[in-house]
Amino acid sequence: MLTQLNKFERYPLTFGPTHIEKLQSLTEHLGGDVEIYAKREDCNSGLAFGGNKLRKLEYIVPDAIASGADTLVSIGGVQSNHTRLVAATAAKIGFKCRLVQESWVPHEDAVYDRVGNILLSRVMGADVQMVDEGFDIGIRESWESAIEDVRNNGGIPYAIPAGASVHKYGGLGYVGFAEEVRAQEKMMGVKFDYIIVCTVTGSTHAGMLVGFAADGRGRNVVGIDASGTPEQTKAQVLEIARNTAELVELGQELNEDDVVLIEDYAYPYYGVPSEETKEAIRVCARLEGMMTDPVYEGKSMQGLMDLVKKGYFPSGSKILYAHLGGVPAINGYGYSFRNG
Ligand SMILES: Cc1ncc(COP(=O)(O)O)c(C=O)c1O
Repeated sequence: MLTQLNKFERYPLTFGPTHIEKLQSLTEHLGGDVEIYAKREDCNSGLAFGGNKLRKLEYIVPDAIASGADTLVSIGGVQSNHTRLVAATAAKIGFKCRLVQESWVPHEDAVYDRVGNILLSRVMGADVQMVDEGFDIGIRESWESAIEDVRNNGGIPYAIPAGASVHKYGGLGYVGFAEEVRAQEKMMGVKFDYIIVCTVTGSTHAGMLVGFAADGRGRNVVGIDASGTPEQTKAQVLEIARNTAELVELGQELNEDDVVLIEDYAYPYYGVPSEETKEAIRVCARLEGMMTDPVYEGKSMQGLMDLVKKGYFPSGSKILYAHLGGVPAINGYGYSFRNG
């Protein structure tokens, strides 16, 4: 291990190291000049279809248990993957769960608030509260009132912010991702030149940045913004990365230039897929049978494909696409994909 991650307690919620596979057909489709691999964080657990949030929550749960709380309280959009995985985690560890679901996405599929992630959260027993507020990755009043409400009703809340990001331990899980990749690289006899990650609330990117900075690859982590508010996202990545670097004793200063965030693919709005995003989802699904979603991974997949086509990566590069999960949300986009 190049970082001091081991000193933090981890509550296992995932199966273990996630699979890395070569995307051969996609590699060929994009001209074969660079090699594309995927690390399947989307298949990382048996908890409610898994995804990146579980890696983060593994380092947060010990603190929640130690705090004596009995209710996890979190927040996200209507089709938040994060709140789905907080609901699953609460069920698994015997906690109650209170979720605030805000109207972050101006999307009008008739069943948007009945299917996919929110359906799963309800089935897992979470107390789901709909709030009509727009997109913001910061700390929200609705979440603070939910925490207060749990307290007023005799519960002991444990607060988890949006995306489990602005939490003191939010960045640790993805430091672990980098440690895991290094071990897998040794076994596979390859070394990845770039890591592609979808970035919104920031702790996935921030953790990776710290983890890969440890072997000089911090700036090889290429974030594809899906928030549509890249300035705020970039600042949040840096803040979380600095805090996480201190926790794991990275011993390096991180600055703004270390956060590589490409802003070109979040359009037209957070949670709304462009025609190009939908096409990237179809291409990846048809070449690899690998599903991505219209909110996050479809946008980072679009970014990956476009950057390869534009020659962003030098010839011969090995690129690792971090597939962070999120596919349940596609059920809220039935109309967009009605013809495939
Ligand atoms: C599937 C998926 N991909 C990417 C992200 C972005 O990760 P982060 O919020 O840590 O930036 C999220 C969550 O927001 C997500 O659910």
